[in-house]
Amino acid sequence: MVYQTIVGRSKKDLEIYNDKCTGYIGKHIVGTGEDAHLTTKVRFDLLRPHVSLISGKRGTGKSYIAGVFVEEVCNLEEKYRENIATVVIDTMGIFWSMKFPNEQQIQLVEDWKLKPQAMNNIKIFAPTSQLKEYEKSNIPIDEGISIAPYEFSAEDWLLAFNLERTSSIGISLEKNINQLIKSEEKFSIDDIISKIRDDNETSDDIKNAIKNMLTVAEQWGVFDENGSDISSMIKPGQITIIDLSRLRSSQAWSVRNLIVALISRKIYDIRVIARKEEEVSKITGEILKNKKPMIWLIIDEAHNFIPSDIETVSSEPLKIISKQGREPGVSLTVITQMPNKIHQDILSQTDIVISNRLTSRDDLEALHSVMQTYHSENLWKYINSLPRWPGAAVILDDNMEKVFTINIRPRISWHAGGTAIIA
Ligand SMILES: Nc1ncnc2c1ncn2[C@@H]1O[C@H](COP(=O)(O)OP(=O)(O)OP(=O)(O)O)[C@@H](O)[C@H]1O
Ligand SMILES: [Mg+2]
Repeated sequence: MVYQTIVGRSKKDLEIYNDKCTGYIGKHIVGTGEDAHLTTKVRFDLLRPHVSLISGKRGTGKSYIAGVFVEEVCNLEEKYRENIATVVIDTMGIFWSMKFPNEQQIQLVEDWKLKPQAMNNIKIFAPTSQLKEYEKSNIPIDEGISIAPYEFSAEDWLLAFNLERTSSIGISLEKNINQLIKSEEKFSIDDIISKIRDDNETSDDIKNAIKNMLTVAEQWGVFDENGSDISSMIKPGQITIIDLSRLRSSQAWSVRNLIVALISRKIYDIRVIARKEEEVSKITGEILKNKKPMIWLIIDEAHNFIPSDIETVSSEPLKIISKQGREPGVSLTVITQMPNKIHQDILSQTDIVISNRLTSRDDLEALHSVMQTYHSENLWKYINSLPRWPGAAVILDDNMEKVFTINIRPRISWHAGGTAIIA
């Protein structure tokens, strides 16, 4: 047997599956500094749900790694690929380029004995209101995405707008939205505005303040009375990229958070129901007609969606996935420059860390909290001794209780996130 490491795979699974349903992500780095060289292959377990963290300083290769993951899912043997649906939250607008082969690093790709390849099961979504803008920039978007206001609870609105529940605005908004929800009918932003306008208990000042706030929300262009059907985005073997990079208003993060909150909740619910159906079919022996794949949610710039210091509207749904996603089969990968800024509840559920260079002690301590059995000084040494070339990273695998260095393999599809240069 060829010696290789499979990150995230338990001993028992290794015995049964060997390296089946894994992705090739790079090679071990042995030695440090000038002596560093590459040895055996490192693969990543794609059989079971994981919570993983990708961290590292700016421009060290984090989004690039997410692309490597996606490529490996795209190239899995069909029987495994059909059982994973991947959703990538793309805040930088860089994952669309995976539809093209990596011609820009062709020498490197060949050095690794790989071939440039365009990924063909990628579907890109962007806010419906911005489709023309993308078209003008020649970015190949497949479909629009919009969200329906009635999908959100009063509490969601308060969190999205950062409103105190006890403030006059908060009280009025909560009461009126709750009444609309109770009516069990679909409603638009305009309906919320009219409802509040007719509310005798809300003063004119407060009415105006809420109207202004909601009018701005309407202008974000992502709300639609019908909203996209999230479950239709979850397809066997499909990589769904949600490009949220062009939302530019001052409240862009509120909108992104609302979208991610909705997607995370739907993903979790879809899998909880699917899991029950799978169990029933196992017991009765009946073949499932509409089998739903397991889901892998990958979030770039994740500290904005699940920050350590404040609660956003997407915080709770993401915590639920990280804590309870294993049984229904939902994986989560969070990507950040600052692991210290990711909520502790996510860190404590993380079983795999891939980290490029980091220089802050606080960030290192955050990684250490994932694998406390390992001495923090040793981790510091590992991260500091990483070779300064692109793709060098440390892996912490809590499943194997192992820490080692890896060189992430070059991408076979085009990576659009390179550093800008003046010349
Ligand atoms: N494994 C690798 N092999 C070769 N080149 C790489 C590798 N990883 C990263 N690079 C190079 O580094 C550049 C930056 O990578 P990437 O866009 O992933 O950075 P990042 O960590 O996501 O940065 P930011 O924090 O700014 O989002 C890539 O465009 C690529 O040229
Ligand atoms: Mg990035």
